[in-house]
Amino acid sequence: MSEFIEQYGEWALVAGASEGIGKSFANRLAARGMNLVLLARRVEVLAQVKAELEAAHGVEVVVRAVDLTAPDLADTLADIAAQHDIGLLVYNAGAAHGAATFMSETTENLLSLVHLNCTGPILMVKQFAGPMLARKRGGIILLSSLSALSGGAYIATYAATKAFDMILAEGLWDEMRGSNVHVLGLVAGATSTPAMLKSGVVFAQGAEGQEQITPMTSDQVADEGLANLGKKPMHIAGEKNFAAAVALRSAADRVQTIQYMGTATASLFGKPYPTKD
Ligand SMILES: NC(=O)c1ccc[n+]([C@@H]2O[C@H](COP(=O)([O-])OP(=O)(O)OC[C@H]3O[C@@H](n4cnc5c(N)ncnc54)[C@H](OP(=O)(O)O)[C@@H]3O)[C@@H](O)[C@H]2O)c1
Repeated sequence: MSEFIEQYGEWALVAGASEGIGKSFANRLAARGMNLVLLARRVEVLAQVKAELEAAHGVEVVVRAVDLTAPDLADTLADIAAQHDIGLLVYNAGAAHGAATFMSETTENLLSLVHLNCTGPILMVKQFAGPMLARKRGGIILLSSLSALSGGAYIATYAATKAFDMILAEGLWDEMRGSNVHVLGLVAGATSTPAMLKSGVVFAQGAEGQEQITPMTSDQVADEGLANLGKKPMHIAGEKNFAAAVALRSAADRVQTIQYMGTATASLFGKPYPTKD
């Protein structure tokens, strides 16, 4: 048995696994010999991923159409837990699907992001961490974002929910590290995923006075996540993203930080920066 399977067991669950970073995680975990429970809303896309992974890696893949914002999510997770001993959880789904000011967004959309990025991770960890702690082995990865480091125009609620994920992961890391359950908040920067490309992003542009943004690939982000699980509470994927995070975190002037984030977001989505003084 490989060290990886010894630590994380035979079954992993990836929430939001049909494309992008989640699909890369599924691929990398299957390559390590893990059986998978894959969740997303479009089950027909998941079915293709299942066929690809089973053919390539000879593992068992179970797919399930689940909306992570649904009010019956806790029941669905209890049902999954009754069928599979999940030893590694990757909570991936969570992108904002575009950029809009807080007041122009519907309350329904804003609350849906809160359910996806806050309620969903809480329910998942509550369901699957108990058995991991009892077995004294396991792993949990929560996807966060560089936008978690500062507020900024156009993504106020998204950034706030991603800060929730990063801080939640750090607290869980501290509580669980004595029980050999590895927890990682994985902070991604701009990454070329189908969801990101559908959202109207323009990677070629760089905001005035800022470096052009070169997105990472989904595989790079997933590889860095798995390489750093069990090593630290939080990892920022990509050297350039790490440098940007250090600059954002150490800036004494919070207004400058917020305006940097707002300008970068506006530029990424081809929108005017609304509040520059
Ligand atoms: N891409 C970036 O530039 C970037 C940057 C920073 C951080 N991140 C973080 O990285 C993670 C992945 O981002 P991503 O760009 O790959 O897009 P994403 O939309 O977060 O993830 C796509 C996957 O999640 C599923 N999904 C989305 N909403 C769902 C829901 N309500 N219920 C169930 N499944 C759902 C999608 O399948 P279905 O549509 O079939 O449900 C698909 O499998 C997110 O947490 C995001 O915040 C991404």
